[in-house]
Amino acid sequence: MATSEASQRAITAQNPSRDQQRGPTRRAAVAQLLAGWSLFSLAAGVGLLGCVRFLFPNVLYEPPATFNAGMPSNYGVGVDETFKNTNSTWLVRTESDPLSGRDGIPGIFALNTVCTHLGCIPNWQAADNRFKCPCHGSGFRPSGMNFEGPAPRPLERWRVVLSEGELMVDMNQKYQWEKGQWVSPESYVVV
Ligand code: FES
Repeated sequence: MATSEASQRAITAQNPSRDQQRGPTRRAAVAQLLAGWSLFSLAAGVGLLGCVRFLFPNVLYEPPATFNAGMPSNYGVGVDETFKNTNSTWLVRTESDPLSGRDGIPGIFALNTVCTHLGCIPNWQAADNRFKCPCHGSGFRPSGMNFEGPAPRPLERWRVVLSEGELMVDMNQKYQWEKGQWVSPESYVVV
């Protein structure tokens, strides 16, 4: 009898029941399922975070579009670069500006520093009395008029007015020569 039980245990050990055979397979399947859900949950969480991120757009801190450029007497005849980097503006004082219909009338105007070709920032070259764009070689006179290179039109001018005796430059309003806008009273301060 004892021999028979021992034989039976040996046979069982060599031939595991169906449940025993299924056991590891089921555990593996459950583990895979859990792993799959974990990955899915992780991906869904990341996606949700991405959506939430769009609810809080980037804040751009740009300089104010209107700025005080100080007293006209601060500016001698010629190009002033004080506000080139901070406000995209050159202030130009001239004895005469025939292109805006102010021949022989001294005044100050504000030029936009952006090249009218593809938007680079030209350099002021006092020795050559010109703005020269480093990107494709366009050249502009101190008035803003283009005279060489691919730029199709002059530099733009900003609105500039006197407020309590000081120059206020308003970059919300621009004036384009090719549209006949340089004659606007607020594109030039007579000094
Ligand atoms: S961007 Fe100035 S010449 Fe092209």
